[in-house]
Amino acid sequence: MADFAFDIKDQALAEEGLRQIEWAERDMPVLRGIRARFAAERPLEHMRIAACLHVTSETANLMHTLRVGGAEVALCASNPLSTQDAVAAALVTEFGVAVHAICGEDDDTYYRHINAVADLRPHITMDDGADVIGVIHATRRELIDGVIAGTEETTTGVLRLRAMEADGVLGFPVIAVNEAQTKHLFDNRYGTGQSTVDGIIRATNVLLAGRMVVVAGYGWCGRGIAERARGMGAHVTVLEVDPLRALQAVMDGFRVSTMAEAAPHGDVFCTATGDKDVIRGEHFDVMKDGAIVANAGHFNVEIDVPALRERAVGVSAPRPSIEQFTLADGRSICLLAAGRLVNLSAAEGHPASVMDMSFANQALSVEYAVRHAEELENRVYVVPPAIDDEIARLKLAAMNIAIDVLSDEQRRYLSSWTEGT
Ligand code: ADE
Repeated sequence: MADFAFDIKDQALAEEGLRQIEWAERDMPVLRGIRARFAAERPLEHMRIAACLHVTSETANLMHTLRVGGAEVALCASNPLSTQDAVAAALVTEFGVAVHAICGEDDDTYYRHINAVADLRPHITMDDGADVIGVIHATRRELIDGVIAGTEETTTGVLRLRAMEADGVLGFPVIAVNEAQTKHLFDNRYGTGQSTVDGIIRATNVLLAGRMVVVAGYGWCGRGIAERARGMGAHVTVLEVDPLRALQAVMDGFRVSTMAEAAPHGDVFCTATGDKDVIRGEHFDVMKDGAIVANAGHFNVEIDVPALRERAVGVSAPRPSIEQFTLADGRSICLLAAGRLVNLSAAEGHPASVMDMSFANQALSVEYAVRHAEELENRVYVVPPAIDDEIARLKLAAMNIAIDVLSDEQRRYLSSWTEGT
């Protein structure tokens, strides 16, 4: 019986959750190696960590690693629809993590759970979307002085934290895990790419081959989605506001357009911009009958869902994760996962193999923050390049892939400006 507070769906699901956690663990060799070292060194002894992450089997492996490193850990969800309830149960009963998360929780419960995690009086915060940091800075300011550092997993969260830093209101240092190359080059591109297409297919069972898929945003996530949709035979149109990225999309072989132009033609729309109001009322007005609309950005602001509701004369739920809105002219538009992260709401999020690197960055960044607490200022820091290199090296080794090593002469050549052709 757990001797700490928690709030989950059902403790009886723990055995099923444990099997899922063990299945993910098979594909997380870098994190397993870190865990083995943490077991010997206990670098997080006496640390209290408040984490707000998607409660998945991959996250459970990170939580286990932090516990083995000596930390006391509380965990809430970073999205109301992404919690795997069986995993939450196993975390409580098998790993001693104080989980406050239930799949499908309403907004009040979501924030109550964030506050419950903040009640731990954390030394370290760990965020996926800056919600714990946001709540601590907005309403739990008495906790700020006790926090050594935070970590942040997402592009969206890092943008917010940099805005806080620029306004001089960031109350403690934060390590931007998202900025690590071994994070965004893999998790955002291959993880989001695969899991978003997976979510759209699980929700709809639509055939992508021959369909027109419109991807809004050509950051690393958008690129991943566009590449994977193309790989399944879709005709992919990319929308991007940044001219450099738009040009890259053109030269990567995608059609580049505007939402106004693409709206009447798309079969499947997916947003991954990080910004609000990307698909709006005027776009719904011209979409094809049966158009499918989904979001892969962190917050549910990219699709103007209220505008869709306003236009609807009827709503039905033909399958889980689909709301089919019938409009006055008889067309229907299918919204997936209520406009929330489709890859975590309608599928299981990124595969373990890619979360292995993201969460290795989390674990090593926490260790770094604890060891360097005295030196850090109230700023947003990138993950130290040595950690990035180490994770890439460990991942290659786990994949049994050897790479060449520079000779002394080659190294000298690269650092010299006198040696010519
Ligand atoms: N973000 C995206 N995919 C994830 C996963 N599988 N676990 C935790 N966070 C995620």
